[in-house]
Amino acid sequence: MQWNADFYTQKHAFVFEYGAGLVEVLAPQPGELILDLGCGSGELTAEIARRGAAVVGLDASSDMLARARQQFPDLDFRLGDAASFELPERFDAVFSNATLHWVTAADAAIRQLHRHLRPGGRLVAELGGQGNVGQIVAAVLGQLHRRGYAQAAAHWWYFPSVGEYAARLERAGFRVRLAQHFDRETALTDPETGLTDWIEQFGQQFFVGVGASDRAAVLAAVNDELRPVLFRAGQWMADYKRLRIVAEKC
Ligand SMILES: C[S@@+](CC[C@H](N)C(=O)[O-])C[C@H]1O[C@@H](n2cnc3c(N)ncnc32)[C@H](O)[C@@H]1O
Repeated sequence: MQWNADFYTQKHAFVFEYGAGLVEVLAPQPGELILDLGCGSGELTAEIARRGAAVVGLDASSDMLARARQQFPDLDFRLGDAASFELPERFDAVFSNATLHWVTAADAAIRQLHRHLRPGGRLVAELGGQGNVGQIVAAVLGQLHRRGYAQAAAHWWYFPSVGEYAARLERAGFRVRLAQHFDRETALTDPETGLTDWIEQFGQQFFVGVGASDRAAVLAAVNDELRPVLFRAGQWMADYKRLRIVAEKC
């Protein structure tokens, strides 16, 4: 999966704008050392630093990290994969917004988070939960299947239920203090192209092996199909369902 930092910050800034609420839950304190896992273009890393904590931003995309370093040259950003990273530090908290559903090796990522926390350290995370963007996924897959792409599946996302994710965390040695699965319809930025922009940024893997004309036809058909359902008051609304987690390393 390729992350395009320009497209992300221009069209999908709502991701980190919503993430500001998760920073409130984290409540970073001066003197704490915090890991921002999947920091992207760094806006929330900077918000954590602004509150006086020391923070390391980690991300698997060099394009996103280049943007983060350009925007916030005084902050510490590092390249690494959630499922395998190794850092020398042990953190007071791990923060992660809109990233863990991209990590299908969920147990490996949870194990790494646990290892990098000090005893008693906290994990504060939000990710897509079960059913997230279900109407968009169903429409795109339906249109692909109709055109003969019978194997198409959204295999790169992991949208767990509370029970599933909490059980994984408990098995890894976390005490789950809060787990919420809630609907958060999300207005997409561009009133005209918002749905197409979203699919092109986050769902580009739908179109691996799909020719340009089929891709254009699928995007047009998905827009037509979903307009009566997800286009309201002049805006595209994505059917987000989020999982919010606060857990403590035992
Ligand atoms: C939707 S962005 C969220 C970025 C940031 N947390 C925010 O709120 O703006 C998801 C980020 O997860 C990163 N990511 C995806 N898979 C990852 C992995 N396996 N390890 C580390 N980062 C990953 C992507 O590179 C991207 O920057």
